[in-house]
Amino acid sequence: MKKVLITRKLIKSSEEFASKIFDVKLNHSDEILTNDELILKSKDCDGILTSITDKLDSNIIFKLSDKIKIISNFAVGFGNIDIQAATKKNIVVTNTPDVLTDATAEITILILLAATRRAKEGIDWVEKKNWKWAANFLMGKQLTGSRLGILGMGRIGRAVADRARAFKMKIHYHNRSRLNKNLEKDAVYHSSLQSLLSVSDFFSINCPATPNTKNIINSKTIKYLPNGAVIVNSARGDMIDDDSMVDALKSGKIFALGLDVYNGEPDIHSDYLTLPNVFVLPHLGSSTIKTRTAMANLAIQNMLDFFKTGETKNKVN
Ligand code: DGY
Repeated sequence: MKKVLITRKLIKSSEEFASKIFDVKLNHSDEILTNDELILKSKDCDGILTSITDKLDSNIIFKLSDKIKIISNFAVGFGNIDIQAATKKNIVVTNTPDVLTDATAEITILILLAATRRAKEGIDWVEKKNWKWAANFLMGKQLTGSRLGILGMGRIGRAVADRARAFKMKIHYHNRSRLNKNLEKDAVYHSSLQSLLSVSDFFSINCPATPNTKNIINSKTIKYLPNGAVIVNSARGDMIDDDSMVDALKSGKIFALGLDVYNGEPDIHSDYLTLPNVFVLPHLGSSTIKTRTAMANLAIQNMLDFFKTGETKNKVN
């Protein structure tokens, strides 16, 4: 039986599934392992099932035991793992695509609506118990008929587009390459980010975090947006240069911001917590029982396939 370290607690049924097929080391306390703990606990293992809270940079990867042949990440994003280093060390890395697409698209719509319709301010007023209806009370913007720019038209970007179409939004997108007609549907392709930004009344970040997308939304690119645009990010925090974003929120260039992910999370730029036009959630994108169960089971299955056949379909290196 292969020995596997599971770095964070999973849903019970998934831990039971893993325990049936592997000799598992579980993390009952669910405390994030330090680098030294991760290296030590995985020493006699054949694989590690990691979460996005484990930061496996080249330093750690090169210190891992040679016995480890697979790192199965419990996420679709794998920016927490140095893929080049893993490849050099002959470690296969896998992710969990598809199963979280719907849940992440749903949370994107939640933060889009909440930021746009000023939900945070509304909740504050209700909690203070001194609000009254007025014709101009907390007026927001309307999605219907507006243009939604999507950066990254992969599975999640397309699922966001499908939901936004139900709000009669017009979809525009920028992607590394243009989609075929079947996938593109009625969406308008922009070959440059600048062109996409210039038509985005609403703008959703759905691309993977790579060195190329780091701080892609910054003081220069924000200027291309129409005045009063709304931005949402349910992908990864490092796509936004937070100081520039805060300036744009304060000046009114950006009407509102909806965030589920952060630079260096769980830390959050302190102004995001105090500005009234920022709606924040604690990285809940994939957090439904159905999705988290499916993700965990897929991460386990990725390992099982690899140990059985030497191949696994969700390999990212
Ligand atoms: C992912 O799968 O990348 C999610 O952000 C994890 O919650």
